Amino acid sequence: MARKFFVAGNWKMNTNRKSACALADGIVHKLDEALVGKADAVEVGLCPPFVYLSDVARLVTNGRAKAWLGAQDLYTQDNGAFTGEISAAMLKDVGVHFVLCGHSERRHVIGEGDDLINAKVKKALAEGLRVILCIGETLDQRKANQTLEVNRRQVQAGLAGVGAGQLANLVIAYEPVWAIGTGVTASPAQAQEVHAQVRKLLADLYSRAAAEAMQIQYGGSVKPDNAAELMGQPDIDGALVGGASLKVEDFVAIIAAAARVA
Ligand code: PGA
Repeated sequence: MARKFFVAGNWKMNTNRKSACALADGIVHKLDEALVGKADAVEVGLCPPFVYLSDVARLVTNGRAKAWLGAQDLYTQDNGAFTGEISAAMLKDVGVHFVLCGHSERRHVIGEGDDLINAKVKKALAEGLRVILCIGETLDQRKANQTLEVNRRQVQAGLAGVGAGQLANLVIAYEPVWAIGTGVTASPAQAQEVHAQVRKLLADLYSRAAAEAMQIQYGGSVKPDNAAELMGQPDIDGALVGGASLKVEDFVAIIAAAARVA
């Protein structure tokens, strides 16, 4: 069966309550038009900041549940003395469907390592949340010819202890760190090369069927004018969008590009 595209917007630490609601509402209202009959082939997700999840949940589930609600992170424990953290149960309680794990800003700005990211992936999957595991090399690593090695390590470490039976709830986002928020996009060929390597690695780790079924998103300066070409690559199954997901027109145009390619 053909893989569906998955276009997710990562709002990061942006918006306020009013603008988050306006953004979600604007996107949801334009989805039908953007998807032009391809609603079965393109999934859409929105990841607002934690504090606006409940507000956005009402807008995406209000009789037209066409966009999945996602969280940008979670913690590994159920409850207890973990000041500032948010559990999987809390996320599910407010309607969250999927969660990002290991986003490059968590890895490189906040300092999360592979072990913590792996624990978060396992916890989220165990709780029935869908996971987008983010991976990607820095510019220095790419220049040093370590791209494959870094992405391999992040996939292997991120999925340690994850069984084949849980893969249906897993998505991978390849996001080269040098392309995130910089306006520099990996060329479609550069992105495709890594996506194909990641899919091969998944086949080695699990099975060819599991690898073929896995959605692998590209992220890093995805914009309306490069989205179609990126998603037209054989191993690119959607996009994780930062900056361009904060504007209704741009995000909807990226969804429309996915619908055209699908
Ligand atoms: P960007 O962010 O689209 O602003 O580059 C992508 C991401 O961090 O997921």
